[in-house]
Amino acid sequence: SILVLDFGSQYNQLIARRIREMGVYSELKPHTITVDEIKAINPVGLVFSGGPNSVNDEGAFTIDPEIYNLNIPILGICYGMQLMAHQLPGGKVAPANNSSEYGETEMEVTDPNAVLFKGTPEKQVVLMSHGDYVDQVPDGFTAVGTSDNTPIAAMQNPDKNLYAIQFHAEVQHTVYGRQILENFINATNAKRNWSMDDFINQQIAEIRATVGDKKVLLGLSGGVDSSVVGVLLQRAIGDQLTSIFVDHGLLRKNEANEVMEALGGKFGLNIIKVDAQARFLDKLAGISDPEKKRKIIGNEFIQVFDEEATKLKGIDFLAQGTLYTDIIESGTETAQTIKSHHNVGGLPEDMQFSLIEPLKTLFKDEVRALGEKLGVPHNLVWRQPFPGPGLGIRVLGDITEAKLEIVRDSDAILREEFANRGLDAEVWQYFTVLTGIRSVGVMGDGRTYDYTIAIRAITSVDGMTADFAKLPWDTLEEISRRIVNEVSGINRVVYDITAKPPATVEWE
Ligand code: XMP
Repeated sequence: SILVLDFGSQYNQLIARRIREMGVYSELKPHTITVDEIKAINPVGLVFSGGPNSVNDEGAFTIDPEIYNLNIPILGICYGMQLMAHQLPGGKVAPANNSSEYGETEMEVTDPNAVLFKGTPEKQVVLMSHGDYVDQVPDGFTAVGTSDNTPIAAMQNPDKNLYAIQFHAEVQHTVYGRQILENFINATNAKRNWSMDDFINQQIAEIRATVGDKKVLLGLSGGVDSSVVGVLLQRAIGDQLTSIFVDHGLLRKNEANEVMEALGGKFGLNIIKVDAQARFLDKLAGISDPEKKRKIIGNEFIQVFDEEATKLKGIDFLAQGTLYTDIIESGTETAQTIKSHHNVGGLPEDMQFSLIEPLKTLFKDEVRALGEKLGVPHNLVWRQPFPGPGLGIRVLGDITEAKLEIVRDSDAILREEFANRGLDAEVWQYFTVLTGIRSVGVMGDGRTYDYTIAIRAITSVDGMTADFAKLPWDTLEEISRRIVNEVSGINRVVYDITAKPPATVEWE
């Protein structure tokens, strides 16, 4: 394996992921790891990640210098490069002044034999993001790359197998980043034999070792993450797993049944289905403020989950489908609350369980690949995002069962038409919203005064920004025609043509 030592960069998990993509197992370890612990793991290479500190700061993250005597190839990235220059004799790191560089930058390779730049052009675009810079390479090193503001953008000491770059090779903006990481992997002579099957076996072994003969509880939402965790745990510990699936009545048409059939039926998960529709509707009655609705749904969910969990005796562990991105995003303490997002399966704060989070090193697409390997049904693995508060935020204003029925039926038509045209694979997220608006129409010979349905369909990479999908007119026409004809209470359909920002994906 190749270990990525974590000095606090936003991108550190991405480095591990890139290396795994190249067929070598890689995981993140804290920078406090000891040389003996590293020896016990016996990796073929090490990466020092970037980080927010300055090596010259008091208390800056560091590493036991004995590590350089292990004779394992090391790649220093950003802070990792500066740390090498700081720790090894002869090196010098200069503090940030005018020389800081942020963003895409042209770098010039100054040594055609540089190990990391094999197969890449002399001039290439890289992503820089640093204040401090290496002013003098350590003894035995040579500088191998330069940019306008960073005289030493890369350095190497091939005799000692030490390599370093000031920029981030792990992000897409660094055009030859993959090749640079490939070159480092080649320098480690790592065998490229790691696959998702190894991950499954490794996780199963770890889960068994952690759980022993104890019991595990899982909050199942029917989403990709919790479904994959459920199937993985079932493989690892079988009947020691109990899942709770709360049907809050805000799910899409047939969704509860589909989840029960897919996971309970095919995989034999032991699922307790809680029919809490009435409770949720009751609590939500007459409430039209979006934030209030979200809070009520979130709190009620925790309440129901808590009650059910309390009924079960002798549970020690709570499993969660937390992903790497969930951890990063919840870490942004300064970000303003636009909406209080809530994830079904979220942890009640005062619960006395130990957590099991087998997906926490993975990115969404890796979870999907894992799900496919585990045989989780295709439609669950590739399910579009669905918010925790469900249809509760797609009925604008106050919620009634009749209104929910309208969104469910119109949404089912939309999904059917998308699936028939293969649009479900192209459009990132698509759904209908029951706007509170009523307007005048004419049906047959009569006047109507009915609701307006809005269609939202967006393209996006991560939901953080989005564009409206440029759907063909005839597709929209057919969907509109069907909704008005088949869903009673609707006499008008509109298409939402706003991007995010300034709009959000959901209407509430
Ligand atoms: P917004 O509306 O914030 O949505 O632009 C961005 C993405 O997040 C989903 N979303 C949620 N997901 N719990 C979730 O798990 C929530 O409370 C929630 N609210 C919005 C939304 O569907 C879109 O994919």
